[in-house]
Amino acid sequence: MKKMELHILTFSPTGTSRRVAEGIAKGTGGQDMHFTDITRQTSVSLNFNSDQLLLVCVPVYGGHVAPTAMQRLDAIRGNDTPAVPVVVYGNRHYEQALEELSSFLTERGFRTMAAATFIGEHSYSTEQTPIAVGRPDAADILFAEQFGQEIAKKWNEGRIAETIDASAIEQPHQDAGTMMHFKQTVMTWMQSGVPMPVSPLADTSLCNACGTCADLCPTSAISRSNPQETDASLCIKCCACVKGCPANARTYPTPFAPLLAEIFSLRKENKYLI
Ligand SMILES: Cc1cc2nc3c(=O)[nH]c(=O)nc-3n(C[C@H](O)[C@H](O)[C@H](O)COP(=O)(O)O)c2cc1C
Ligand code: SF4
Ligand code: SF4
Repeated sequence: MKKMELHILTFSPTGTSRRVAEGIAKGTGGQDMHFTDITRQTSVSLNFNSDQLLLVCVPVYGGHVAPTAMQRLDAIRGNDTPAVPVVVYGNRHYEQALEELSSFLTERGFRTMAAATFIGEHSYSTEQTPIAVGRPDAADILFAEQFGQEIAKKWNEGRIAETIDASAIEQPHQDAGTMMHFKQTVMTWMQSGVPMPVSPLADTSLCNACGTCADLCPTSAISRSNPQETDASLCIKCCACVKGCPANARTYPTPFAPLLAEIFSLRKENKYLI
């Protein structure tokens, strides 16, 4: 069996998808690994062959793969290349995201040999509204490493041509009443025009103009000369700037944060299919 050449692609504004990807990669025990982080890279154009393996690890936004990740991955091409789509979500649900990513890869010449869903601390999580705080935690990383070991086993047994159906992965347990409550609340907000912040706010009394937020922003929405200014039309509300501000000067006061913290507090578990 040919030695495994693993390529990892990740988009990860707040770092949870990246940590999951690193855990899976470590678990494969591979020596020939190539990591490409497209969080602050506007596009990527890579071609893969059937002797390589691609792992794609991206966050879920609104039940879909983060649109910016999809746009940036648009030009990748496989040639009957085995691939592992992985989506990371904030303890609510990933809905269509995993199937979407698997189909996206299939359309570009890849075949899904394994797939997984992981939980990451929610981008909107704060001290007052904690949502999946600290995840992926040590147990999640161990699970990611085990998944990596399974991938290497399948590769070494020469079974990479065996594909899986990503839609068959076990869904997270969620009682119907809670999901209904969430959807109805959001619908009421939409109908009554509850204001949604279009981008994070910077507290001018706390900001020391260090520029960290501008460096962290995946879409260059924050002015480098005046970091308290954000171009809302570019902002994807990823909260990288909020979580990364050393002065705690940035906040994203979305009404989703308390709602999610209240109703999706029960720990969900990671799943994989291989
Ligand atoms: C705009 C936006 C929408 C999100 N939508 C969902 C969602 O539908 N379901 C969910 O469980 N988490 C959702 N999340 C949370 C992220 O999927 C989660 O925090 C993920 O770990 C972030 O990945 P990253 O650390 O790689 O940026 C959303 C986050 C953002 C910023
Ligand atoms: S990271 Fe925080 S303190 Fe630094 S410029 Fe941005 S808002 Fe200001
Ligand atoms: S300004 Fe918007 S896009 Fe940029 S890091 Fe902050 S939340 Fe993300």
